[in-house]
Amino acid sequence: MSWTKEDLHRLIKTKLADRLFIVVSNREPYIHISSGDEIQCVVPVSGLTVALDPVMRACGGVWVAHGSGDADRRVVDEKNRVMVPPDEPSYSLRRIWLTREEEDGYYLGFSNEALWPLCHLAYAPPIFYEADWNTYKKVNQLFADAVLDEIGDRQAFVFIQDYHLALLSRLIKAQNPQVTTAQFWHIPWANPEVFRICPWGEELVDGLLGNDLLGFHIGYHCDNFLNTVNLLIEARIDYERSAVIRNDKTTLIRPFPISVDFDQISRDAASEDIKQEMERIRQTWKLNDKIVGVSVDRVDYTKGIPNRLLALDKFLAKYPEYQRRVVLLQLAEPSRTHIRKYKELNLEIDDLVEEINWKYQSGDWKPIIYIREHCSPPGILAFYRLAHFCIVSSLHDGMNLVTKEFISSRVDEDGVLILSRFTGAARELTEALFINPYATDDFAETIRKAIEMPKRQRQARMRKLRHTVEQNNIYKWAGNVISELTNLGL
Ligand code: G6P
Repeated sequence: MSWTKEDLHRLIKTKLADRLFIVVSNREPYIHISSGDEIQCVVPVSGLTVALDPVMRACGGVWVAHGSGDADRRVVDEKNRVMVPPDEPSYSLRRIWLTREEEDGYYLGFSNEALWPLCHLAYAPPIFYEADWNTYKKVNQLFADAVLDEIGDRQAFVFIQDYHLALLSRLIKAQNPQVTTAQFWHIPWANPEVFRICPWGEELVDGLLGNDLLGFHIGYHCDNFLNTVNLLIEARIDYERSAVIRNDKTTLIRPFPISVDFDQISRDAASEDIKQEMERIRQTWKLNDKIVGVSVDRVDYTKGIPNRLLALDKFLAKYPEYQRRVVLLQLAEPSRTHIRKYKELNLEIDDLVEEINWKYQSGDWKPIIYIREHCSPPGILAFYRLAHFCIVSSLHDGMNLVTKEFISSRVDEDGVLILSRFTGAARELTEALFINPYATDDFAETIRKAIEMPKRQRQARMRKLRHTVEQNNIYKWAGNVISELTNLGL
């Protein structure tokens, strides 16, 4: 039996009793933006929010996050709160406001120009500015103030998300030591040799050790973290319990492979609306007699998008019989576009798409359909369902939830997943076809294998993949985090 929303709800009710449940992340799960005279509510493309929203729907409580939409202020109450999701209000979103300077230093700067490239091995050098680090500290304090305000004199369990908030648990506990905190690091943790170039590495590691429980996607990242602690700071490491003891305080370090709401996605993907949307996409892009590959990413240099385009180029050159027959639909969500590295990547991708399409196009066929825009979650499900194969070619990824969304959407038990070995997901999704995104020739060969795989084999693999994701869904993930905490005697 797989975990359900109701199981998680029951667990929370019995284990957390009347404690307030607070999730904190930088990115908010719902963004309000102006659209003419109207206000639109948009769901961002972020593995983190996609994963945590169903948990919050099941548990209720408060989600504290940065209010980044231009209409966000217009919908909140005097405490900066709004109930979400709009169609089924089940928890409260408390927004934090940041100035342009704070957003620059904390989000674009330290989080995404220093920590992001530091943790992902994608050959982008991190940039460390002391001013950004100072803003990062300041903004972590702003988040702590909002969380403490929500808690008041209640008992609370605070579940902190990701690399934007490494100092938060210590700042909360400095004011209110009764609070229990867990933090989940949604991206990889690099090995100590890589990590030690960070000028404030000790403070970051110490900040994370303010938590009672610290989670990563896979055991390998836990090991890297323990080894980093060993190299950087004074602490006792209990390898048997996978715990760090510093100044008499214990932090458990555990792997929790994150997932998605398998049942909900499967249900949505089977709906009549999605079938109509699939038909619309087929007509718009003239896909009826085509072999369709799909990729869905934020435009980020960790996702290996150029590597994927080069592999497609190689494939078409080596197997010309597939020209005019294969189409790669690349959905690309613009991301962090104010950062230079991301601007450069956008240009590089535009060039490659143009070059490859120019080289092969014939009649009204071109091999790459590049759609750079925000696509709503139901729209994405239609793309997944159309795909003969889905390519995830990240150079390094903590987990990668596109893989699990793709699998959950395939209610027809068909479709091949081509998956980079360098994702956390590769540990679980063993029925995928694996690639090294840097090895262009092998990658091209794997595209051929995916296309030529007999239907029976495709279905057998997809059935197993679906079983894995169904059994290890997002409710199990959250349940495991909470059970682990309560075992500590919460
Ligand atoms: C990754 C990070 C998340 C982040 C998401 C989208 O999944 O781990 O924390 O929300 O990317 O990035 P953005 O910068 O738009 O929040």
